[in-house]
Amino acid sequence: MATEAQRKKFTVPQLALVKNSSRRLAMVTAYDATFASIIDAADVDLLLVGDSVATVMQGQKNTLGVSMEQMEYHVQMVSSAKPFALVVGDLPFGSYQASVTDAVQNSIRLIKAGAELVKLEGGVHVADQIAAITNADIPVMGHIGLTPQSYHRMGGNKIQGRAEGDIAGSKDRLMKDALAVQDAGACAVVIEGVPSDVAASITKSLSIPTIGIGAGVGCDGQVLVMHDLLGLSPRTFTFAKPYAQLRNQAIAAVAQYVQEVQSGAWPDSDHSFS
Ligand code: KIV
Repeated sequence: MATEAQRKKFTVPQLALVKNSSRRLAMVTAYDATFASIIDAADVDLLLVGDSVATVMQGQKNTLGVSMEQMEYHVQMVSSAKPFALVVGDLPFGSYQASVTDAVQNSIRLIKAGAELVKLEGGVHVADQIAAITNADIPVMGHIGLTPQSYHRMGGNKIQGRAEGDIAGSKDRLMKDALAVQDAGACAVVIEGVPSDVAASITKSLSIPTIGIGAGVGCDGQVLVMHDLLGLSPRTFTFAKPYAQLRNQAIAAVAQYVQEVQSGAWPDSDHSFS
């Protein structure tokens, strides 16, 4: 792991360099300054201030309710950690679907809050928005496959790209979405919740890097939600590996504190003033 002195800021042009190298991109979500600094210290390339804040921090059932103001607030907190990693700000549901003007204006808000590029969900249907944001000189990351903002259309968070033919969520549509996102000017694209072979074939067909979650090892990079990676959540998913068990450790620490308070062992003389 690089020391702080050895580290350099990860920038948008470096995304393109990764595409034809053997180096893979590592992205992790973060929602506040404390965890952004912890994740950044581990040499991650990109910090995603995801609209998953709705489910993992706000306790909502899906990501649809999170507002622009809330996303701006979380982007501000993450960017105040001054990470070496590139800060990606997620455009929440309702902030870009209605018009290209909304898309550009809300992207500007996230950039002013401290994001260095913005991410939005969808393919062919949001190509105009991606082109308009890119024309405003704001780098864009696409997001295709299982797009959580399409929760109701998909009937929940469902794996995409298994069906054949020209229907919503099919293999062919996914490829069209990926190409539309790239042609509109995106500098990278997240592929979520699709069979590994489909994600690998999209990755081979694109000249921009793909970043997978639940999309197999054939992508140019990977992203995980911080709570899943650190074992902070009581839930586990097939596509996510807890690399630590921080929830259990936190419960044990607090339980010990409670027990010491109740027994009168806390505070001891080392932590008291005379
Ligand atoms: O909001 C988020 O955390 C995301 C990732 C799952 C890619 O979009």
